[in-house]
Amino acid sequence: MSTATTEITPILQSFLSSSRKILIDGKWDDALSEQTFPTFNPATGDVLCQVPDGQKEDIDRAVKAARHAFEHGPWQTLTPSERGKLLWKLADLMEQRTEEFAQLDSLDNGKPVTLARGGDVPMAIDFIRYMAGWSTKIEGTTIPLSVPYAPGAQFHAYTLREPIGVVGQIIPWNFPLLMAAWKIGPALAVGCTVVLKPAEQTPLSALMLGELACEAGFPDGVLNIVTGFGETAGAALAAHPDVDKVAFTGSTEVGRSIVHAAAGNLKKVTLELGGKSPCVVLPDADLTSAIPGVANAIFFNQGECCSAGSRLYVEKKIFDRVVAGVADQAKQIRLGPGMETTTDMGPLVSDEQQQRVLGYVESGMNEGAQTVVGGNRYGDRGYFVEPTVLVNTTQHMKVVQEEIFGPVVCAEPFTDLEEALGKANDSMYGLAASVWTRDVSQAHRLAARLRAGLVWINCHNIMDAALPFGGYKQSGWGREMANEAIDLYTEVKAVCAQL
Ligand code: NAI
Ligand code: MG
Repeated sequence: MSTATTEITPILQSFLSSSRKILIDGKWDDALSEQTFPTFNPATGDVLCQVPDGQKEDIDRAVKAARHAFEHGPWQTLTPSERGKLLWKLADLMEQRTEEFAQLDSLDNGKPVTLARGGDVPMAIDFIRYMAGWSTKIEGTTIPLSVPYAPGAQFHAYTLREPIGVVGQIIPWNFPLLMAAWKIGPALAVGCTVVLKPAEQTPLSALMLGELACEAGFPDGVLNIVTGFGETAGAALAAHPDVDKVAFTGSTEVGRSIVHAAAGNLKKVTLELGGKSPCVVLPDADLTSAIPGVANAIFFNQGECCSAGSRLYVEKKIFDRVVAGVADQAKQIRLGPGMETTTDMGPLVSDEQQQRVLGYVESGMNEGAQTVVGGNRYGDRGYFVEPTVLVNTTQHMKVVQEEIFGPVVCAEPFTDLEEALGKANDSMYGLAASVWTRDVSQAHRLAARLRAGLVWINCHNIMDAALPFGGYKQSGWGREMANEAIDLYTEVKAVCAQL
């Protein structure tokens, strides 16, 4: 098949041709230090663009703007319907930029442009529209009171759901635009103001989103975007005494440090952290869909997905057949730069991530695992890793317990359901899981017993704006998307009047 490289659009060319700036109080600015850092194209290692190296003092400025906009700006006086319209307008502007966003996330992150065009970008747009709809539906309740110590008295009591205030949002690099949308959508829908810090590996699409937010007409200071590194800008945001809530997506290790940093002013915290999600294949599964399904569960987005199906548990009698099938799928995956139209899997996001993933494969081999397919770096340019299937793994191995965040799956057989459940739940993580079977009762019984925030039946990695997403155990605190996210950006105020 011939390979064609996607041509960068003129709008995107102009976006990439100069250093980007950060968004504070509706204005585009340099970091106060005037320092910048490069963001790279992981398919080549070449520099794409320079972005400001935001520091604590830039976070301070952004928080101040967000506080002012929250308490004194026009944002306060907008009706819910007007907030909803602004979000809808933003989604319309994003739709017009679908191609630019798809190319930008492909260039900055490495993922196939076809994936970003068909997945990340439409999902981000749909999500913003879903949240626009919530703006007008944030309701309290009325509460009948009994008050035993006030016989005969009558009360009228109700709750209000009010925006939590200024929120700091720190996002990762695996779905750059989509993660930004997941974060700002519910916060803006309920009337919070935001300081967003994108990942240092992929800061660009969030900056383009900021341009569109200005164009849509969000008042100054409602959405501030500061690029920078985790240890500086991110840590300053998490610790900031004037931030009311911090929402974080990333590693469990950094999640823990966010919790410590948040303790100073006891800001509210939501965390969407790592995963080690099991796929459990029962002997009666329809293998024609289960094999490509579990292969895609791990290889989708280079395996850089918190809900990736990175542990594969297959009933003993069908184990060899399923593993051979998944290995076969792996062999058919075409690796290449994300901007090439024939690419199924791009490079990993960075040199560091490539080293991390290859290091895990090596540790697995040292502990006795074997590769059925893959296990190596691919090519000599860019940060590619071959799709990899490991067997002969045991539960205690690092490759089975820790999040690899690359295209590596560990396959193990089981003999009965109790063993499968025991293995599936034997993890510090509990983000997602999938069950593959034709037996409807069995599927729902298993769904109830899997300790995970999202259980898929005969599918994996299906996400929707209306489907709550988040983890049990050390996979996080709280949920994203759906009404659950709305709740977590609001405070409940109870009002009680004696009549
Ligand atoms: P990370 O957790 O360091 O980075 C995620 C975000 O947190 C980035 O915006 C980063 O700048 C920020 N950050 C880093 N240190 C911080 C700190 N001390 N305070 C505040 N913010 C901070 O993740 P990294 O290093 O990029 O990847 C390491 C591993 O994390 C991956 O191999 C994967 O296992 C996991 N990960 C999980 C993700 C998920 O979706 N749950 C996403 C990205 C990474
Ligand atoms: Mg980059």
